[in-house]
Amino acid sequence: MIDGVDNEKRRFLTKTATVVGAVGAGFLAVPFASSMRPSAKAEAMGAPVEVDIEKLEPGQRVVVLWRGKPVWVVRRTPETLAGLVELDGVLLDPQSDQSEQPASSKNEARAIKPEIFVAVGVCTHLGCSPVYRPDIAPADLGPDWKGGFFCPCHGSKFDMAGRVYKGVPAPVNLEIPPYYFVSDKRIVVGLDGEKA
Ligand code: FES
Repeated sequence: MIDGVDNEKRRFLTKTATVVGAVGAGFLAVPFASSMRPSAKAEAMGAPVEVDIEKLEPGQRVVVLWRGKPVWVVRRTPETLAGLVELDGVLLDPQSDQSEQPASSKNEARAIKPEIFVAVGVCTHLGCSPVYRPDIAPADLGPDWKGGFFCPCHGSKFDMAGRVYKGVPAPVNLEIPPYYFVSDKRIVVGLDGEKA
């Protein structure tokens, strides 16, 4: 399942998407398109995973598995990117100085290309997988919520660049894995472009 779209669009996309992933609050179920799945042995060794992002529409996320962890790939909207700068005051480490990310993602959007966000989907508190909440100002997350990731285990909140909010249990931003673009339509997770 690709998530992050309205229900009508979701039904359409469920039928047509070529890459699929799903993540739950306390567990993970990630089906893969055969073309993007390395062998089980290679996967266990942490082999890089190629992801087709051509059909990923703005606001959508797909989940793949790398080194036994969920990795999110989100196509961010222009509105989302514009909103990132407004959150600095409520974030613990807005410049990601204390965070784990490749040099190519050490920037405000924490990404090689701002519209494509890639992150390890594991909460930096105790390892639950946060829920993707791209909705703006929902009742349960408050009027200042601009979309992001919410960890249901102990309430940590991360913005759409995986940056953690102040005053929650998680101590650092979400990890950005090494990745690179093969083309505009495909990325490889698990390998820095310079080492490919
Ligand atoms: S594991 Fe996410 S808040 Fe505790």
